[in-house]
Amino acid sequence: MTVIISGKDLAKEKKEALKLKIIDETKKYGRAPHLVVILVGDDPASQSYVKGKEKASIEVGIKNTTILKPSTISEEELLTIIDELNNDDDVDGILVQLPLPKHINEAKIIKSIRVEKDVDGFHPLNVAALFSKQDCILPCTPKGIIEVIDSQKYQIEGKFACVIGRSNIVGLPIYKLLLDRNATVVSCHSRTKNLAEITSQADILVVAIGKPKFVTENMVKDGAFVIDVGVNRNPENGKLCGDVDFDNVKEKTAYITKVPGGIGPMTISSLMENTFECFLRRMNK
Ligand code: GUN
Repeated sequence: MTVIISGKDLAKEKKEALKLKIIDETKKYGRAPHLVVILVGDDPASQSYVKGKEKASIEVGIKNTTILKPSTISEEELLTIIDELNNDDDVDGILVQLPLPKHINEAKIIKSIRVEKDVDGFHPLNVAALFSKQDCILPCTPKGIIEVIDSQKYQIEGKFACVIGRSNIVGLPIYKLLLDRNATVVSCHSRTKNLAEITSQADILVVAIGKPKFVTENMVKDGAFVIDVGVNRNPENGKLCGDVDFDNVKEKTAYITKVPGGIGPMTISSLMENTFECFLRRMNK
C-alpha cells in the first residue's frame, strides 16, 4: 500500500495553527509580522511562487509587501532597496526571489540581507550556523521535507537516505538535516556514476535536480519514502511535473509526494513560520 502524502493538506493545518499564534502576538505587540518579497523580472514560475507567498501571508495574518522590479534593475539599485528594508524597523523578513538575472551577483544579494531578517535561511551566517549545529533559521524547503516525513511517524534514525541534487536551497541543507536526525546520508547528483545502484538502496530518497521524470522504478527501493522536490514542465503536455516519474514509481514506494501539491505548499508554510520566528526574535530582543 502506498501513502500519497498531501503537502497541501499538511501545510493547511500548519497555517491554521500559525494563524492563531499570530493573532495573539499581533495583539501583544500592536502590529503584525511583516514580510517583504522582492521579485526581479517576469519569469512566470517566479511570479507564481511570489503570488503563493502573498496568498499564504494573507491567510495567516502576516503583512505582505511585494516589490516588483524590471529585469533591467542594476545590482546597486537592488542593494539600495535591501539596505532600506534592513534598516526599516517595521520589516521582519526579506526574501529576494531566485533566480536573479545574470548581471546580478546572487551571492552578494543574499549576503546583503540582514541575517535577522533572512527568512529563507540562505545567508552565509545562517548556513554556517546550520552546518555547525547552532541556532538558525532553517531553509524552508528542507524544513518542509522533514515535516512531511515526520507527519507519517516514520523513523528517520538508522535509515539510509539518498539526496539527488546539491543546491544551496535544497540538496545540501536537507542532507544536513537528515544527518542530524541520525540517518546515514549520501549526496548525489544527476551525473553520479552508477546512480541507480545507490538510489535503489535508499530507504529515503529526496530528489531535487529539476529534470522531469528523472527517477524511474529501477532507481527506487521497495517500500522507500520518496520525496519529489522537482518543479518542471512535462515536455509532452506542458503540465507541471516532478523529478520523479510518479506513475512509474508509485507502486514501489511506501510513501511518496506528488507534484504539484507535495513539497511546494510546505515550503510556503515554512516561510510563514520563519517570518513569524524572525518577528518574535526581533520583538523579544
Ligand atoms: N526560488 C526557488 N525556491 C526559492 C526559495 O525557497 N526562496 C527564494 N528566495 N527563491 C527561490
